[in-house]
Amino acid sequence: MENRNLENFIKLSQNENPLGPSPKAMEAVLKHAHTIHRYPEPHPHSLEVKIADWLNIEPGNVFVSAGLVEALDIMIRNFVGQGNNMIIGDITFVAYRLLAEVFNVETRFSKLTDYQMDVHDILSRYDENTKLIIIANPNNPTGTTISENELIQLLEHVSSDTLVVVDEAYWEYVSQSGFPGSLSLQKRYQNLVIMRTFSKIYGLAGLRVGYTIASQSVVEKMEYYQAPFTVNCLGSIAAIHAIDDVEFVAKSSEMNKKERQFMFNELKQRGYNVVPSQSNFHFVLFDTVEDRDLFDTELCTHNVLARKTDLFGDSKAIRLSIGTPEDNLKLIESLGQIKIG
Ligand SMILES: Cc1ncc(COP(=O)(O)O)c(C=O)c1O
Repeated sequence: MENRNLENFIKLSQNENPLGPSPKAMEAVLKHAHTIHRYPEPHPHSLEVKIADWLNIEPGNVFVSAGLVEALDIMIRNFVGQGNNMIIGDITFVAYRLLAEVFNVETRFSKLTDYQMDVHDILSRYDENTKLIIIANPNNPTGTTISENELIQLLEHVSSDTLVVVDEAYWEYVSQSGFPGSLSLQKRYQNLVIMRTFSKIYGLAGLRVGYTIASQSVVEKMEYYQAPFTVNCLGSIAAIHAIDDVEFVAKSSEMNKKERQFMFNELKQRGYNVVPSQSNFHFVLFDTVEDRDLFDTELCTHNVLARKTDLFGDSKAIRLSIGTPEDNLKLIESLGQIKIG
């Protein structure tokens, strides 16, 4: 489905920025296109320094990867080990589970409460062999968050050699108060690892750039396991310039917030069971798999692409990214012609 000619489709299936790439990043990519016969830096140090300056942290606490997926790959593959385990949500970003399966990592699935990661449940599955806990915050596909207090509660209860990863791929979209100030928490808890990406609000998914903020020893370990040249030169250049595109980020987040509320109300009004979201997508639940599949097929016939969430852990739900106002009006028009149940 993702590879077909998408020109006539409204693509609400991969939580991309519907406004396109950051204009500043695009301009930089075009300007540097003539350099692509050269190798990039073996490890993207210039971008690490830029991120460190931007966030007012040390470059030694920043690790840049070819998307967050590369950082997750390195962690899950190398940081758990035989006889140990990792904990993730039972409905969450599919890559955690898939990587664990590939590398034979024992995975414990924590039950979400009200579609939200539940610290008590995580702790009930935790033991001295738990080396990694990964929390997508906001969670994909449910769009829910854990608060700073909940995160602190978790960090206070686990051993310092258990890494607690908060995957903040969508953090720029959060508008709720109480969201963790993870950068300052990381200074207090050396085992806290923050993962972020340029794929979402910056609109650079196709260039594959993500970054991790962690203690120096964790960063050094991640660099050790990273193959050279995985982050390409245009990706680095684009990210360096995207960081300065403050207006684009503000515009994207404002549009998303407005459209998220609008779509939530519209879906609710039509009787859909939709989870309030702090991200750039909605999680919509159906009574049966058949209803969900019918909804997906109907959307497809109206040229709207959504994402079924079976691989994420729920086969009766669908995830709908928030589009532009025009996309969303077309989606609503399609909804008007769909009868489920
Ligand atoms: C929670 C979460 N983490 C990470 C990623 C992947 O990020 P990247 O494109 O940087 O590999 C996604 C993509 O959908 C995601 O939803």
